[in-house]
Amino acid sequence: MEKKQKIILDCDPGHDDALALLLAARHPSLELLAITTVAGNQTVEKTTRNALSVCTLARIREVPVAKGMAQPLVREARYAADIHGESGLDGPPLPLPEREAVSEHAVDVIIDLVRSTDDVVLIATGPLTNVASAITREPTILSRLKGIYLMGGAIGLGNVTPAAEFNIYFDPEAAAIVFNSGCPITMIPLEVTHQALATPAVMERLRSLGRPVPAFVCQLLDFFGTTYRRVFGFAAPPVHDPCAVAALIEPTLINMHRMYVAVETRGEYTLGRTVCDVYGVLGRRANARVGYGLDAARFWELLIETLASYEAVASGVGAAEQK
Ligand code: RIB
Ligand code: CA
Repeated sequence: MEKKQKIILDCDPGHDDALALLLAARHPSLELLAITTVAGNQTVEKTTRNALSVCTLARIREVPVAKGMAQPLVREARYAADIHGESGLDGPPLPLPEREAVSEHAVDVIIDLVRSTDDVVLIATGPLTNVASAITREPTILSRLKGIYLMGGAIGLGNVTPAAEFNIYFDPEAAAIVFNSGCPITMIPLEVTHQALATPAVMERLRSLGRPVPAFVCQLLDFFGTTYRRVFGFAAPPVHDPCAVAALIEPTLINMHRMYVAVETRGEYTLGRTVCDVYGVLGRRANARVGYGLDAARFWELLIETLASYEAVASGVGAAEQK
């Protein structure tokens, strides 16, 4: 039996974070050591509750959830209620969490796990505030981390400004710390994730499974699809965050190019841009592998297969929380 890759998922659920969590928790090649939450799509209270609700619904009981940073390092938080709703996970009724977050802060959980466990990969699908705080407080973890896989940034157009993608824009200073850390980084930008579209054919495959967790995912994507149609004019919603998990599971899914990436922390119109030196004109040493193409068919095979593997009976849905 192949040795499982130990991971920590740092996230801001968030509709697509929920799919990343479901993939990370049950794919046979991964061992999810902890789920850490951060402010981003919504307040950290809401992203934490959402992570716990998804774990309740999917009966993910063995993975600790730790609440993290409530504010970006130096700026004011600008949540994405227009995309994810007031709860951060609008759409389906959410079960009341059957457990609470652990008492330890997410940054301490990241530090302690990386110091005590070899070859951990940190997957970040929200703003990088927790990650930057951990490597700033305990730089020795940089030599122990196997790598950081992050959904964030864009080679070209942003999605929260013309220049910046949401996760980076929410906390540009944190992103700059991470990209300048020297830790091996795999960046999964919008150019990749905008190919991971939950088309009607994908939705039909999920619905045809007739199981509660894929059905829950359909409810999430129905809501996500309405906001992506309204805000961006997308015919189908892109599921950004599970792409970062899938990139670790199956490296051949995404073409990667090594390059130097800088994060803009001062520009009036360009704040939060990931400046990707595709042609190496800056002469700086590459600090990241940046994703380009996605084998979308294979990505959905992988995700749907894992979602289908969840137990036939979800838990807690009957005690859905009224929003
Ligand atoms: O720009 C997309 C990213 O921002 C995703 O991680 C989504 O969940 C939001 O956090
Ligand atoms: Ca996210």
